[in-house]
Amino acid sequence: MQYEYIELIVEENVGRLTLDRPEKRNAIVPELALEVTDALERIEDDVRAVVLEGKGSAFCAGMDLEKRFYETRQEGPRAFYEAGRKTGTMFTTLFDYNRPVVAKIDGWTFGAGYCLQAVCDFAITTEESVFGLSEINFGIIPGGGAMWAAVNTMNRRKALYYTSTGESFTGAEAEEIGAVTEAVPEDDLDDAVENLVNSLVEKNPVAMQFNTAVLERVRYMDFHEALDYERGKSEEMKYYQQDEWVDEGIGQFKEREYKPGLEAYDE
Ligand code: ACO
Repeated sequence: MQYEYIELIVEENVGRLTLDRPEKRNAIVPELALEVTDALERIEDDVRAVVLEGKGSAFCAGMDLEKRFYETRQEGPRAFYEAGRKTGTMFTTLFDYNRPVVAKIDGWTFGAGYCLQAVCDFAITTEESVFGLSEINFGIIPGGGAMWAAVNTMNRRKALYYTSTGESFTGAEAEEIGAVTEAVPEDDLDDAVENLVNSLVEKNPVAMQFNTAVLERVRYMDFHEALDYERGKSEEMKYYQQDEWVDEGIGQFKEREYKPGLEAYDE
């Protein structure tokens, strides 16, 4: 499959997806979003993890402001709605994806680009990258998931501050406020991402899949609801694993082949 706005490589069991619109700082147009969605769906059964990055100086400078807002205004409300629907599917596909996705961030990350990294399971950034929820700077509020991204990746005070001021912040600051998983010096970015990916792909894939899905749900439950839900989901997971966790995960521990507190069992 030949794409125009993205590059896709599958290396062993890892999908590597690169936004390829560097001349526009990887700003999102519907076609780019549809390609990302298509690529993710195609590789889902063949990979154990995906790395999402941007070519050039940006991870993603947000929605293409001219095409998304100016041009669709000329075309009318239907065009405006359709553009939003197509780009929205990319975010929901990523959020619901059955494999862990690591955003690898080296550069500008604004608005819808901020949302893009937030719907990935992990975000590793360079300390020098620049983030922002800049919508207020051109007169609107974060939408299309970006407000959700703000309140779900930073605390209320910081989310209000950055969405109200439009002020940008660095990757190092993003790590301090919990907005990304980790910020590293530029030279260490490749290694940091690969170390994380290696850790993810060696884990039981069914457990990996359930882990994220259950975590996202129980965040919004009270303790009793969570207890019931976790119990039910654990049983469902064990069914799909065909009790591999007992045979191998616990079996290898019983044989003293590994220390589960320090490493994963050998699949
Ligand atoms: N939408 C459309 N075009 C964009 C976008 C965007 N979000 N971001 C950059 N571009 C274009 C520029 O217009 C320029 O196009 P041109 O070559 O035709 O003039 C090209 O990409 C390069 O951009 P520069 O501004 O020249 O690049 P620079 O590296 O100096 O600055 C920066 C990068 C800071 C990202 C700047 O381009 C910028 O402020 N972009 C907008 C960021 C933003 O606020 N995005 C919206 C978030 S809100 C939302 O997503 C709904």
